[in-house]
Amino acid sequence: MGTSAGASSVDKTPFGTTQDGKAVDLYTLTNDRGASVKFIAYGGIITAINVPDRSGKLGNIVLGFKDLADYDSRSPYFGALIGRYGNRIGGAKFTLDGTQYQLAANNGPNSLHGGRKGFDKVVWTVEPLTNLSGAAARLSYTSPDGEEGYPGTLTVRVVYTLTDDNELRIDYEAKTDKPTVVNLTSHSYFNLAGDGAGGIDDHILTINADRYTPVDATLIPTGQLASVTGTPFDFRHGMPIGARIRASDPQMVYGRGYDHNFVLNRSGSGLSLAARVYEPRSGRIMEISTTEPGVQFYSGNFLDATLVGAAGRQYRQTDGFCLETQHFPDSPNKPSFPTTVLKPGETLKSTTIYKFSTDASEMP
Ligand code: BGC
Repeated sequence: MGTSAGASSVDKTPFGTTQDGKAVDLYTLTNDRGASVKFIAYGGIITAINVPDRSGKLGNIVLGFKDLADYDSRSPYFGALIGRYGNRIGGAKFTLDGTQYQLAANNGPNSLHGGRKGFDKVVWTVEPLTNLSGAAARLSYTSPDGEEGYPGTLTVRVVYTLTDDNELRIDYEAKTDKPTVVNLTSHSYFNLAGDGAGGIDDHILTINADRYTPVDATLIPTGQLASVTGTPFDFRHGMPIGARIRASDPQMVYGRGYDHNFVLNRSGSGLSLAARVYEPRSGRIMEISTTEPGVQFYSGNFLDATLVGAAGRQYRQTDGFCLETQHFPDSPNKPSFPTTVLKPGETLKSTTIYKFSTDASEMP
C-alpha cells in the first residue's frame, strides 16, 4: 500500500463517523497513469473518478459531497452500491415460492433501491487487493435474513478495480441460504465535463438498445418491451441527451425526463457494450460494457438545487446522469422479464466496466 510514482496503489484515510458512531475510511485507487477512483466504506460510495480530458488534465467526473454527514442524511444515492434490489418493486411486495414478502414503500407505493436502509447506507468491509492489472479493493457485506423484508442471508462481495487502461471495473458476487431476489448496481451520477460544470444536455449518448420498458405513472414497467423507433428513447445513434428531453411523450412526462430501463441488445452472456457517452467540450468518452440485461438511464430529473456538491456548486435538474446496469425494474413481479431469483448453491456473478478515454487520438 501507499503511493509510489508510476505504480498503481491503494491508499486509505479517515473520512468521518456515521450518525450511529461507525468510523468510515476513504480509499483511493490510483493507476500507473495517475487516474484515480475514490470511494468510502459507507455504501461503497464512489466519491470521485479523476480521469483526463483531451489535454491530459485530470478532473472529477462524478457528483458527490464533501462530507460524510451529507451522504449519511440526504444523498440521492450518489455513487452508491445499490441492493438488495436496485430500482423499483411495484406495490413494495413480491411473491416467491408461494410466500408474499412485504417491503418498505419508500417511493410512493413502491420500494426503491433496497428500502429504508439499503446497501447504500451500510458500512462495508474493505480489503485492498493486489492486482497486477491496476489498483483494486474488495468490499464485503452480509445482509441478515429478513433485512428490509427480503428472505435469506445474502453474502455480497464487490470488487472495484481501476485498471492501468483507465477502466473502472466492478465485479459483483452474491450467495444466499434461502431463495431470494437480488438486483445489484452502482449509482454514480456522471458529468463528463466535470463535477459542478453545469448541465449534461450536450453529452452525446448512445445506448445499444432496440427496446425499452415503458412505465406507469409511478415508474413501474407495464411489462411491455417497446420499440425505441420513432421515440425519444432511440439512442442507437449518438444523440445529445437534451435533444428530446422536453418531448411531450407521456413516458417522458412520467419520468420528468429520462428515468427508464433499456433492454440491451446482447450477443451471449459475456460482457457487451451497453452505452457510450461523449462530452464535446472536454473530449471525454465513457464506454460501459456489462453482463447485465438492462441499463436504467436517469437524467438527474429530481435534482432541484437543494444539494451543494463537493465542488461547492448547487446541483440542479440534469446536472448529472446515471446509467445503472441492472436487471429490469419490478422483475420479481414480472415473470416474463429475465429472472432476479437467486437460490442456495448458486452464485450471482455480474460485471460492469466503465472505460474512460478522450477524442484526442481522433483529432487531426
Ligand atoms: C431512479 C430514479 C430515482 C433516483 C434516485 C434512479 O435510479 O430511477 O427514479 O429518483 O434513482 O436518486
